[in-house]
Amino acid sequence: MSRDVTLLWGLRSPCAFACPHCYFGTIEEHRDAPPDQLGVLSHLSRNDLSGRELTAFARTLSDSPVERVVIAGGEPLDWPGALEVIGLIKEAGCQVVIATNAIPLTRPHIVEGLVALGVDGVSVSLDSADAPTNDRLRPSRSGRFGYDQVLQGIRALLAAREGRAAPRVGIYTVVMRSRPQEIGDVARLAADLGVDYYVPQPISLAPDHALFEKHAHRPSDVAEVAGQLDDLYADPSGLTLPDPSYARRFLEAISTHDSGRVAGCFGGARLFFVQPDGSVWDCPSDRRIAATPPERRRSIRGADARTLFAERPGCNDCDLFSRDCVNMWPLVLDMPRILSTEAP
Ligand SMILES: C[S@@+](CC[C@H](N)C(=O)[O-])C[C@H]1O[C@@H](n2cnc3c(N)ncnc32)[C@H](O)[C@@H]1O
Ligand code: SF4
Repeated sequence: MSRDVTLLWGLRSPCAFACPHCYFGTIEEHRDAPPDQLGVLSHLSRNDLSGRELTAFARTLSDSPVERVVIAGGEPLDWPGALEVIGLIKEAGCQVVIATNAIPLTRPHIVEGLVALGVDGVSVSLDSADAPTNDRLRPSRSGRFGYDQVLQGIRALLAAREGRAAPRVGIYTVVMRSRPQEIGDVARLAADLGVDYYVPQPISLAPDHALFEKHAHRPSDVAEVAGQLDDLYADPSGLTLPDPSYARRFLEAISTHDSGRVAGCFGGARLFFVQPDGSVWDCPSDRRIAATPPERRRSIRGADARTLFAERPGCNDCDLFSRDCVNMWPLVLDMPRILSTEAP
């Protein structure tokens, strides 16, 4: 069976951080009004699958169409069962990339485990090169963790992989309208740290999100962001960047202030989104998820990956293509190049 499917697998919902823009919302808002619609994420983790259900599904990945699994959450590496699940996915012959807030990388057994398992990529989130700004944008719930520990975690991982090609280590930055300069600033920091790849991502917020007016780009922001991206691609400082066509998609995405349609859907047939409750969606677009009819709802609970992904929706010019999809492009079509040791 040919393997060409990428899973973005939100493994667990809990997180020790409380980023106010997070796709999972905030605990505070959900405590009073827990979301009850399928497809709406929450750190409350009321419906996360059990460890046994997760390992059972991971065991079915060998000989399935799944080529690559991007493990995210919530914070996946805070969950004690994470290394076991990652090991099963690697045993199944899949490429594994972990998206993390990096605090777990300060724990030696985590970095040693990731290196020993042969994890292919670790993508660390950092939204500002300025420590107080990052910690305001990405606050930890206890107030005890932040920028310093993120850098400590990155350095620990780079030291632990010394002499090996994997994991490749990257930084992801959510770019907000007030801080276009982070594109260049975080890239310079990433290069100084010695990381391998860098991906700036446009913030994606629904128009009714409390932070939409503050953080979501407007068409008038496009020129400045374009200038930052031009400078970055002109001098990547040794970092591997997403293919230059991504910069165009980025700019198209932020030109649609209302998170509306962006031309050029790539999803559907090759990218699926698995949420911590096991639900499987054709792609991570919140617009697409909301439009999924009940007969297309599926779950990894008790399922076999060899049959679950055999049927593809086959959409390639989806009207619901939007910022969420643009954010996923480097994960899907560009990841083999980004993880290549020969890049840039
Ligand atoms: C939800 S997090 C899960 C993994 C891990 N906790 C982390 O922060 O990297 C995955 C990625 O989504 C990004 N993200 C969260 N909310 C976002 C939003 N509203 N728009 C764009 N990216 C967002 C995070 O910064 C992170 O890079
Ligand atoms: S660390 Fe990741 S999952 Fe946690 S709140 Fe921030 S973006 Fe969301």
